[in-house]
Amino acid sequence: MKKFCVLLSFITIFSANIFSQSVENPRVKWFVDARYGMFIHWGLYSAAEGIWKGEKLRNNNDYAEWIQYRNRISKEEYIKLVEDIDWDNVKPEEWVKQAWKAGMKYVIFTSKHHDGFALWDSKVSNYNVGTYTNHKRDIVKEVADACHKYGLKFGLYYSHWLDWEHPYGWDHTKEVYPVSQEEYDKYWQEKVIPQIKELLTNYGKVDIMWFDMWINHKSTIVSKEELVQLKNLIRKLQPDCLINSRLGLSLKEDPDVDFLTMGDNEMGRKVLNFPWQTPVTIAKSWGYSAYDNNWKSTTTLLHYLINNVSLNGNLLVNIGPRANGDIPFEISQRLDYIGNWLAVNGEAIYGSSAFELPPEMHDWGRITFKEEDGKSKVFLNVYNWPLNKKLTVTGIKAKPEKVYFLADKEKTPIKVNFNEIVNIIDLSLPQPDPIVSVIVMEFDKKPETESDLVAKNEYGGFSLTPFNYVSLQGDKSRVMASNFGSVPAHFVVKNKSEYKWRIYIDEPGEKNISISYGYGDKGKGGNIKVYLAGKTLNKEITNTGLFVVEPGNKRRLTDYKSFNLGNVKIQKPGYYIVTVEITPDKGKEIDFQRIWIE
Ligand code: GLC
Repeated sequence: MKKFCVLLSFITIFSANIFSQSVENPRVKWFVDARYGMFIHWGLYSAAEGIWKGEKLRNNNDYAEWIQYRNRISKEEYIKLVEDIDWDNVKPEEWVKQAWKAGMKYVIFTSKHHDGFALWDSKVSNYNVGTYTNHKRDIVKEVADACHKYGLKFGLYYSHWLDWEHPYGWDHTKEVYPVSQEEYDKYWQEKVIPQIKELLTNYGKVDIMWFDMWINHKSTIVSKEELVQLKNLIRKLQPDCLINSRLGLSLKEDPDVDFLTMGDNEMGRKVLNFPWQTPVTIAKSWGYSAYDNNWKSTTTLLHYLINNVSLNGNLLVNIGPRANGDIPFEISQRLDYIGNWLAVNGEAIYGSSAFELPPEMHDWGRITFKEEDGKSKVFLNVYNWPLNKKLTVTGIKAKPEKVYFLADKEKTPIKVNFNEIVNIIDLSLPQPDPIVSVIVMEFDKKPETESDLVAKNEYGGFSLTPFNYVSLQGDKSRVMASNFGSVPAHFVVKNKSEYKWRIYIDEPGEKNISISYGYGDKGKGGNIKVYLAGKTLNKEITNTGLFVVEPGNKRRLTDYKSFNLGNVKIQKPGYYIVTVEITPDKGKEIDFQRIWIE
């Protein structure tokens, strides 16, 4: 028996490592490939539109679905919003159809938000849409049916931690007027657990249960046992249903949580090798707000999607339909554009993922990647069409078999010039899309890459900065970020230090070198040397003066100035190391910004 248990726990640990929180997990495969989904925030709050009796929501975040809590509205008054909903015109199928048109692959609908009002005909509590519509409406069912009709995966948001309706449910004021652990568990056992049972029993296959607790359970009332109970219930009723990390158990704590949900509107910053997703709003609020006109542009949203895919992530874009069912024009306009874009360029998104090169290596846009039918496809998502009509791709050690626009069904070959590790694509062609044009580089096998190079940028030069250097010796200098955006990122150098970058020069000839730094003290500050191709360039450090940020403002900052150090003759194409050696005089500080080679 003991042996069996050991074996079992070994299998559990083994499978947890192999299958959970991995993009290889068969349960999560569809989600990883889908990349793009729709979040729908709709409920009683949609009828308040972020305003209560003429008073705006009492919070600058504009989260209109929080109106009941923020504006301290009683349950008796809040429920009257049911009457302001135009039930005849609310057609959830239209919302799902919009998702389908937009090229989204799944929908997550707010079955019960923090207000505690269930949008299905729940037998567990009377506080639900069935009770108030004479059982005519069950929005969860309508969304589920529409998802099945349009072939989209079906997910439900359920506010488990917060519930402003149940006397023992949590709201933030309970930090002052607490409920006991026993009382909270009564809410859990008599509302959460039975409602989740209903949702996972009566609506067919549920593909995602999306929970919403953005702090760890240790810092609030929900116990780990309660969360595990909930999770086990889902695993029992619908083993393939995905569960997000906002359940409140961190990924580390529970390897059985399927994917990471980032903070609201928190975009990815680096490649992650497990499934993850960012929920974003198109405006600021999630639920419809009458005065929120902070619309993110179509370009922003499309870049968000591509950026996340280039980091192995997903994007979940929220819509807040109105209480009359309408989707605001600003939303449908953006989603339709992206839907049309995906109809043409979807290959670069669906089933695609991060490529081996650093995501921000190229200034023209982002790379996504997939292997398919024995081919490797590198998708160049061009955000900024180069003025010189040449797109430089650095870091791939092979010439592609084919290069073409994804928008071109004929796959007309585009000319490309290959030089050891640099591919220069000839873009003297009309730009297929005004926002993002996608170029495919097709290879017969996965090409080798080198990721420690600094790419030649759109303006034909190399910008060597604290963000792209490969090694640093000497002083453990700190990299300082900008102050009001007026101070560029720089190394703070107080002792003799050396920084190196690696570049590939494809066009030999005279290269001009300039350096930029700030030095605020009077007189001499030390010396800077730049080494390239056997030549040394020298500069004595002198005061760079002051800089005024805003007129009439007392704030003065040390200026950053650029100095031309002269030329270096490059004899042949190849890899070069650029080294800068900074020797500050004793007690002096040099703020070194960058080298520019052109
Ligand atoms: C936050 C908010 C909530 C919104 C959610 C979406 O947790 O409380 O109103 O539903 O984020 O990510």
